[in-house]
Amino acid sequence: MKLTLPLFLSLCLFIACAKTQDAKPQVEKQESKPNKVLVAFFSKTGDNYGVGSIKIGNTHKVAQEIARQTNGTLFEIKPATPYPDAYKACTEVAQEEFRNNARPKIKGYVEDMEEYDTIYLGFPIWWGDAPMPVYTFLESYKMEGKQIYPFATHEGSVMGHSESALKKALPKSTVHKGMAIYGHTAQKDAKFVETTVRNWLKN
Ligand SMILES: Cc1cc2nc3c(=O)[nH]c(=O)nc-3n(C[C@H](O)[C@H](O)[C@H](O)COP(=O)(O)O)c2cc1C
Repeated sequence: MKLTLPLFLSLCLFIACAKTQDAKPQVEKQESKPNKVLVAFFSKTGDNYGVGSIKIGNTHKVAQEIARQTNGTLFEIKPATPYPDAYKACTEVAQEEFRNNARPKIKGYVEDMEEYDTIYLGFPIWWGDAPMPVYTFLESYKMEGKQIYPFATHEGSVMGHSESALKKALPKSTVHKGMAIYGHTAQKDAKFVETTVRNWLKN
């Protein structure tokens, strides 16, 4: 093929354009971290204070509602050895654990904990604090930088001293102000739970 002047100029233009394209800064494809919400909770079934024998724990009911409203993943913190079904016997075991600052073994774990920045952490107030398996759970993961929103059910102690205890246990996380609901209300009044959770999440 004979290289005429117009053909030569077109060829130069084509090469120049191709070079300019090459020189364009490459936009790095950023894998955005999914903003996943975890609703982790501890709750006891069986004989409980003021509610008789229950099939779904009081805190479990609140946790379900939070997961529903936040579209979060529900995870139950389960003790490896179940607590006694009877209320009084359970309080005795729990008191002993509390006095010893025990870390009872738990079963199951959150596989992809690093994907969760926001954790709603629920528990019943036991002896003014979160039950010891909750601390076993928290100490099983790297919790740096996580936003922790505690919630509790109780029969008079509100959050007890669980918020300050959690702050101490999680120095590298941000522990926000908690939300407390009476256990018997959580068990029996789904509408109240829905509204209370909605207002708390809004704030
Ligand atoms: C071992 C034990 C200790 C408890 N200690 C307290 C307490 O110190 N203050 C309080 O207000 N309620 C206390 N309660 C009542 C529970 O906090 C309340 O019934 C709660 O709603 C139970 O939630 P759950 O069904 O999710 O386990 C205690 C209950 C148990 C079983």
